Amino acid sequence: MVTVPVNPLAYNTLWQIRADAWSSLEETAGQLVLAGTQQLPVEQLGETVTGLLDVLGPIERLWAFPGMQAFQKMRRLFAAGKYDRFAALVSDINRALATDSFRSGQALDLGAEDEPFDRAINPLEQARTERPYFEVLVVEDLSEQQERALHEELRRRRRPDDPFVYEIVVLPSFDDALMAARLNFRLQACVVRRRFTHRSRYDSSSLAQFVYSGGSADLMQRSPDERAQVLARSLARIRPELDLYLMTEISVEDLAGRLSHHFRRIFHTREGSLELHLSILDGVSARYRAPFFSALRSYSHRPTGVFHALPISHGNSIVESHWIRDMLDFYGLDIFLAETSATCGGLDSLLEPTGPLREAQQLAAATFGSRQTYFVTNGTSTANKIVVQALVQPGDIVLVDRNCHQSHHYGLMLAGAMVTYLEAYPLNEYSMYGAVPLKEIKGKLLALRRAGKLDRVKMVLLTNCTFDGIVYDVGRVMEECLAIKPDLVFLWDEAWFAFARFHPVYRPRTAMRAARTLIEKLRLPEYRQRYDKFAEEVGAIDAAPDEVLLEQRLLPDPARARVRVYATQSTHKTLTSLRQGSMIHVFDQDFSHKVEETFHEAYMTHTSTSPNYQILASLDLGRRQGALEGFEMVVKQIENAMRLRDAVDHHPLLSKYMRCLTTADLIPAGYRPTGIDQPLRSGLPNMIKAWEHDEFVLDPSRVTIFIGATGIEGDAFKRSHLMDRYGVQINKTSRNTVLFMTTIGTTRSSVAYLIEVLVTIARDLEARLADMSPAERAAHERAVLRLTAPSAPLPDFSGFHPAFTDGHEPPTPEGDVRRAFYLAYHDSYCDYLMPDEAEQRVENGDQVVSTTYVTPYPPGYPILVPGQVFSPQILSFMRSLDTPEIHGYRADLGYRVYTGKALEIAATTRPAPPPGQPD
Ligand SMILES: Cc1ncc(COP(=O)(O)O)c(C=O)c1O
Repeated sequence: MVTVPVNPLAYNTLWQIRADAWSSLEETAGQLVLAGTQQLPVEQLGETVTGLLDVLGPIERLWAFPGMQAFQKMRRLFAAGKYDRFAALVSDINRALATDSFRSGQALDLGAEDEPFDRAINPLEQARTERPYFEVLVVEDLSEQQERALHEELRRRRRPDDPFVYEIVVLPSFDDALMAARLNFRLQACVVRRRFTHRSRYDSSSLAQFVYSGGSADLMQRSPDERAQVLARSLARIRPELDLYLMTEISVEDLAGRLSHHFRRIFHTREGSLELHLSILDGVSARYRAPFFSALRSYSHRPTGVFHALPISHGNSIVESHWIRDMLDFYGLDIFLAETSATCGGLDSLLEPTGPLREAQQLAAATFGSRQTYFVTNGTSTANKIVVQALVQPGDIVLVDRNCHQSHHYGLMLAGAMVTYLEAYPLNEYSMYGAVPLKEIKGKLLALRRAGKLDRVKMVLLTNCTFDGIVYDVGRVMEECLAIKPDLVFLWDEAWFAFARFHPVYRPRTAMRAARTLIEKLRLPEYRQRYDKFAEEVGAIDAAPDEVLLEQRLLPDPARARVRVYATQSTHKTLTSLRQGSMIHVFDQDFSHKVEETFHEAYMTHTSTSPNYQILASLDLGRRQGALEGFEMVVKQIENAMRLRDAVDHHPLLSKYMRCLTTADLIPAGYRPTGIDQPLRSGLPNMIKAWEHDEFVLDPSRVTIFIGATGIEGDAFKRSHLMDRYGVQINKTSRNTVLFMTTIGTTRSSVAYLIEVLVTIARDLEARLADMSPAERAAHERAVLRLTAPSAPLPDFSGFHPAFTDGHEPPTPEGDVRRAFYLAYHDSYCDYLMPDEAEQRVENGDQVVSTTYVTPYPPGYPILVPGQVFSPQILSFMRSLDTPEIHGYRADLGYRVYTGKALEIAATTRPAPPPGQPD
């Protein structure tokens, strides 16, 4: 019994199986050729080849290159014992795949069946063309001959000036088509013809961990139109970017009226393939367009005379310089040619875009599934402030995750919001927070309802995903909150999640997709019925007791709920963009009549009148890349992350000192009804199940490694070990963990380098341990013990001092951070307290109140905010920290706090509630 070197069950992604199987096949085929002369075990090698061909068979059906014709030919050569030619063909295919040379679109020269395979004329040896290559899925049950004819017909349509080159992959069934959409990331378009079956006739059981069956059971009983519609809808759900075409023999005019919203175009079969060919190219060209980048590039090549600011424009101040020539050498001239402040002459104004920038933003909206998208040139820090200012008036209540990024704390302060902090679940073992449970959000909303303040609640603001990769069930959070407050606005900070749009499993948990799903759902008659039944059971939601509403899954009233969703994304963090490139995506039913103007004002407030064009152009290109190869890149990103996890967990030395934290470590079981501890590891269907049902899931592309057993603190591990010695950059650590993020820029080599570094660190540690004196060893063991035992619990938000609340009874937790912040501008109202003194005062029952944000790094979120009272937990947590970096705290002076007098003044000068609000 021979073991096949590639066991699909041991892999996380199909792409990797494919690459490894081809490499193994090439190696084994080579040995087979030599077997006769070198007495290698022919039979055993033959069995290995058979095993590998069986692994590859179901995979290759889904890809246009090398195509089933070449694959079958390979099988025949092998079966006929023509090992030389078999090995040559395998080697050509593997090389073409490994070097991407197949992207030239040249067909493999397969030769006649019994002719020698003439490698000298193999067109794959020819130079690659630079035209981008993609694949097109044709869904129709065709005979082999018909399929070949279609291939040839479309190839004949190629012209030298086509902007792209493509190949087709023909599949006969609905199931095959969905599988290809999920697995073949080179697909850019799909042509649906009328004759296709529902179930696949192929055995794909070897791919079980990557596929899951879909589609309704009665597809074949439906009319061909309906079948085409169901297929189009299912494909769009998996890959919304695919251009879908319908080819039909019946009345196209009639179909166009009924089905055109599912398909980019509908053709009559008899029209032939030219229109189809041109449409396919045109569809991809539409996504390929990068209007602002193109405008900037053509502008940069025009001669100009600059008689205003920006001496760097066209490199003028550099080219003639004697002292900063190296600037030009380093950056190259093009970047300066593109430096301009022009807003006309083909360019556009970011503050009032009407030309290429507007178009670039519209393309981004289409790609990210928003109704409007705005580019931001100074990061999501600014994007967040824009959204908050656009929507929140002074006095509005905003519910926000306390561990959110500092930009929200500052943005809400500037906006004058009454801030209600939400508590995330703690992970004390790792000195981290998870995410905010839905029950916590509902609980806070219900408390505000009880106090009669629900009408003042404006927004819920959450970070998805969190820095550590915890992902919310975005749709469910919005549904249940809207059931309590139907016009609530949601701001999802997706600083770390822009890439999620491009993967079908991640996408439903993004704000824009969840918003679209929600609005569609609310309009369904079946939903109305469900809601009526729910309302009957629960009674009037405004009167139902809190306990019932907390436990029940709540449904929003479709007649009242408004879908008002915003997402901010640091494109530069997870996609291609120059630093600070960020986007705001809007899906707000009330945008045009309620927000557009204030949004514009907020945008003007925070946007430079000299925005950086390079950043804008890179956002345009980042969008193009996402639209055309986002899926491929994210698949590879996940694969790299899984490779890193496997390497750490399976390495005998590394696993002694380090451990990758899993879903089960970072998400308590109570938030995971599916009970799946390692969703992706146990197969894609399990990942899909967990991502569909669990309250929180873990983004597998973020790898948190527990390093407690090394006895080295997270921050020291980052600075002295990873960064200073080996140049490995990371930006998040906790007391005993380090976070490694993979992105679309992570390469296999960078993962390999990281492993090498980690192994070196572990080896050094082993060597040091071996040489330690008993006293040193004891100190090391104490450090390990300290890092592996749970630390002081992370402190909850203690509360605002009553002087900074609205003073209403019953009290609710929101506080006026802006007033608390600005009051401290009066020096005479403030004092400094050293920790001992603060502890003493708190112990005596005094209310000690912070004037400012106190933010230790790590964990990187404010432990105290302006107006917040100190608690014993906060003080003991602060004492337990040994980070040198604490913003808002001066080691020489201590905490800055309000004097008793200041608090008295604050309590008596509380502003009246905003007009139109309850008094
Ligand atoms: C959750 C979150 N939001 C917003 C930001 C700010 O993004 P940017 O760096 O693009 O300004 C960050 C930065 O780390 C972040 O972690």
